[in-house]
Amino acid sequence: MQVTMTVNGTEVTRDVEPRLLLVHYLRETLGLTGTHWGCDTSNCGTCVVLVDGEPVKSCTQLAAMTDGHDVRTVEGLADGQRLDPVQQGFMEEHGLQCGFCTPGMMLTARALLDRNPDPDEQEIREAISGQICRCTGYATIVRSIRWAAEHPAEHGANVVAPTEAEEVPA
Ligand code: FES
Ligand code: FES
Repeated sequence: MQVTMTVNGTEVTRDVEPRLLLVHYLRETLGLTGTHWGCDTSNCGTCVVLVDGEPVKSCTQLAAMTDGHDVRTVEGLADGQRLDPVQQGFMEEHGLQCGFCTPGMMLTARALLDRNPDPDEQEIREAISGQICRCTGYATIVRSIRWAAEHPAEHGANVVAPTEAEEVPA
Protein backbone atom coordinates (compact mmCIF):
# COMPACT_ATOMS: atom_id res chain seq x y z
CA MET A 1 0.00 0.00 0.00
CA GLN A 2 1.05 3.57 -0.59
CA VAL A 3 1.61 5.94 2.34
CA THR A 4 2.39 9.62 2.29
CA MET A 5 3.65 11.51 5.31
CA THR A 6 5.73 14.58 5.99
CA VAL A 7 9.10 13.65 7.47
CA ASN A 8 11.24 16.48 8.78
CA GLY A 9 9.43 18.92 6.54
CA THR A 10 9.56 16.87 3.35
CA GLU A 11 6.54 15.03 1.97
CA VAL A 12 7.48 11.42 1.30
CA THR A 13 5.45 8.74 -0.47
CA ARG A 14 6.44 5.07 -0.45
CA ASP A 15 4.89 1.68 -1.08
CA VAL A 16 4.98 -0.27 2.19
CA GLU A 17 3.76 -3.55 3.57
CA PRO A 18 0.70 -2.91 5.77
CA ARG A 19 2.47 -4.60 8.71
CA LEU A 20 5.58 -2.39 8.52
CA LEU A 21 6.27 -0.55 11.77
CA LEU A 22 7.03 3.16 11.66
CA VAL A 23 10.43 2.60 13.28
CA HIS A 24 11.48 0.26 10.47
CA TYR A 25 9.99 2.54 7.83
CA LEU A 26 12.10 5.42 9.12
CA ARG A 27 15.28 3.41 9.58
CA GLU A 28 15.22 1.03 6.66
CA THR A 29 13.02 2.60 4.01
CA LEU A 30 14.11 6.20 4.53
CA GLY A 31 17.57 5.56 5.99
CA LEU A 32 16.90 7.76 9.03
CA THR A 33 18.86 5.63 11.48
CA GLY A 34 18.91 8.29 14.19
CA THR A 35 15.68 6.71 15.40
CA HIS A 36 16.87 3.71 17.38
CA TRP A 37 15.20 0.37 17.94
CA GLY A 38 15.94 -1.07 21.33
CA CYS A 39 13.49 -3.55 22.76
CA ASP A 40 10.61 -4.66 20.58
CA THR A 41 8.39 -4.65 23.68
CA SER A 42 7.42 -0.94 23.86
CA ASN A 43 9.49 -0.43 27.00
CA CYS A 44 12.69 1.40 26.20
CA GLY A 45 11.47 4.50 24.35
CA THR A 46 14.59 4.88 22.27
CA CYS A 47 12.37 4.79 19.18
CA VAL A 48 10.41 7.93 20.13
CA VAL A 49 9.68 10.35 17.30
CA LEU A 50 7.23 13.23 17.16
CA VAL A 51 3.99 12.60 15.27
CA ASP A 52 2.07 15.83 14.87
CA GLY A 53 4.25 17.21 17.66
CA GLU A 54 3.52 14.45 20.17
CA PRO A 55 6.07 11.87 21.30
CA VAL A 56 5.20 8.43 19.93
CA LYS A 57 7.04 5.15 20.33
CA SER A 58 7.53 4.37 16.66
CA CYS A 59 7.71 0.65 17.39
CA THR A 60 4.07 0.77 18.46
CA GLN A 61 2.71 2.41 15.35
CA LEU A 62 2.42 1.16 11.79
CA ALA A 63 3.79 3.24 8.97
CA ALA A 64 0.33 2.93 7.41
CA MET A 65 -1.24 4.54 10.49
CA THR A 66 1.03 7.53 9.97
CA ASP A 67 -0.35 8.24 6.50
CA GLY A 68 -1.18 11.94 6.25
CA HIS A 69 0.67 12.87 9.43
CA ASP A 70 3.71 14.97 10.26
CA VAL A 71 6.76 13.13 11.60
CA ARG A 72 9.85 14.67 13.13
CA THR A 73 12.91 12.60 13.86
CA VAL A 74 16.19 13.56 15.49
CA GLU A 75 17.59 14.34 12.05
CA GLY A 76 15.02 17.14 11.86
CA LEU A 77 15.72 18.63 15.29
CA ALA A 78 18.42 21.08 14.26
CA ASP A 79 17.38 24.26 12.50
CA GLY A 80 19.48 24.01 9.39
CA GLN A 81 23.05 24.22 10.60
CA ARG A 82 22.08 25.30 14.13
CA LEU A 83 21.45 22.89 16.98
CA ASP A 84 18.13 22.93 18.77
CA PRO A 85 18.59 24.21 22.36
CA VAL A 86 17.82 20.66 23.51
CA GLN A 87 20.75 19.32 21.51
CA GLN A 88 22.93 22.12 22.82
CA GLY A 89 21.78 21.34 26.36
CA PHE A 90 22.80 17.71 26.01
CA MET A 91 26.23 18.93 24.92
CA GLU A 92 26.56 21.50 27.69
CA GLU A 93 25.41 19.22 30.51
CA HIS A 94 26.83 15.93 29.22
CA GLY A 95 23.39 14.39 28.83
CA LEU A 96 24.62 11.27 27.12
CA GLN A 97 27.21 8.58 27.41
CA CYS A 98 26.64 5.82 24.84
CA GLY A 99 24.00 7.93 23.10
CA PHE A 100 21.60 5.08 22.40
CA CYS A 101 18.65 6.59 24.27
CA THR A 102 19.52 10.14 23.26
CA PRO A 103 17.43 10.70 20.10
CA GLY A 104 14.22 9.68 21.85
CA MET A 105 15.12 11.65 24.98
CA MET A 106 15.75 14.79 22.95
CA LEU A 107 12.49 14.52 21.01
CA THR A 108 10.50 13.99 24.19
CA ALA A 109 12.28 17.00 25.66
CA ARG A 110 11.42 19.11 22.62
CA ALA A 111 7.73 18.16 22.91
CA LEU A 112 7.77 18.93 26.64
CA LEU A 113 9.35 22.35 26.15
CA ASP A 114 6.94 23.17 23.31
CA ARG A 115 3.99 22.75 25.68
CA ASN A 116 5.72 23.76 28.93
CA PRO A 117 8.72 26.05 28.36
CA ASP A 118 9.76 26.05 32.03
CA PRO A 119 9.34 22.55 33.44
CA ASP A 120 10.66 21.72 36.88
CA GLU A 121 12.69 18.62 37.63
CA GLN A 122 9.64 16.54 38.50
CA GLU A 123 7.87 17.49 35.29
CA ILE A 124 10.96 16.58 33.28
CA ARG A 125 11.29 13.24 35.05
CA GLU A 126 7.62 12.49 34.38
CA ALA A 127 7.99 13.43 30.69
CA ILE A 128 10.90 11.03 30.19
CA SER A 129 9.49 8.31 32.44
CA GLY A 130 8.62 6.12 29.46
CA GLN A 131 12.23 6.00 28.36
CA ILE A 132 15.16 4.04 29.68
CA CYS A 133 18.76 5.19 29.92
CA ARG A 134 21.22 2.58 31.09
CA CYS A 135 24.14 4.98 31.28
CA THR A 136 23.50 8.35 32.85
CA GLY A 137 21.31 7.79 35.88
CA TYR A 138 19.06 10.51 34.40
CA ALA A 139 20.58 13.37 36.41
CA THR A 140 22.52 14.76 33.46
CA ILE A 141 19.55 14.27 31.12
CA VAL A 142 17.35 16.29 33.48
CA ARG A 143 20.04 18.98 33.71
CA SER A 144 20.33 19.05 29.91
CA ILE A 145 16.61 19.65 29.50
CA ARG A 146 16.69 22.33 32.18
CA TRP A 147 19.58 23.96 30.33
CA ALA A 148 17.44 24.04 27.17
CA ALA A 149 14.56 25.58 29.14
CA GLU A 150 16.88 28.28 30.44
CA HIS A 151 18.35 29.02 26.99
CA PRO A 152 15.29 28.84 24.70
CA ALA A 153 16.78 30.98 21.94
CA GLU A 154 20.29 29.65 22.18
CA HIS A 155 21.14 27.55 19.21
CA GLY A 156 24.55 26.06 18.75
CA ALA A 157 26.66 26.90 15.75
CA ASN A 158 28.62 23.69 15.59
CA VAL A 159 26.45 21.38 13.58
CA VAL A 160 28.03 18.87 11.30
CA ALA A 161 26.19 18.79 7.98
CA PRO A 162 23.91 15.75 7.74
CA THR A 163 25.26 12.77 5.93
CA GLU A 164 23.49 11.39 2.89
CA ALA A 165 21.98 8.66 5.03
CA GLU A 166 20.38 11.24 7.29
CA GLU A 167 18.62 13.06 4.49
CA VAL A 168 15.23 11.83 3.41
CA PRO A 169 15.70 10.53 -0.09
CA ALA A 170 13.50 12.31 -2.62
S1 FES B 1 12.04 0.07 20.51
FE1 FES B 1 11.83 0.05 22.71
S2 FES B 1 9.99 1.18 23.02
FE2 FES B 1 10.20 1.15 20.87
S1 FES C 1 23.26 7.39 27.19
FE1 FES C 1 23.49 5.24 27.03
S2 FES C 1 21.47 4.50 27.22
FE2 FES C 1 21.29 6.61 27.66
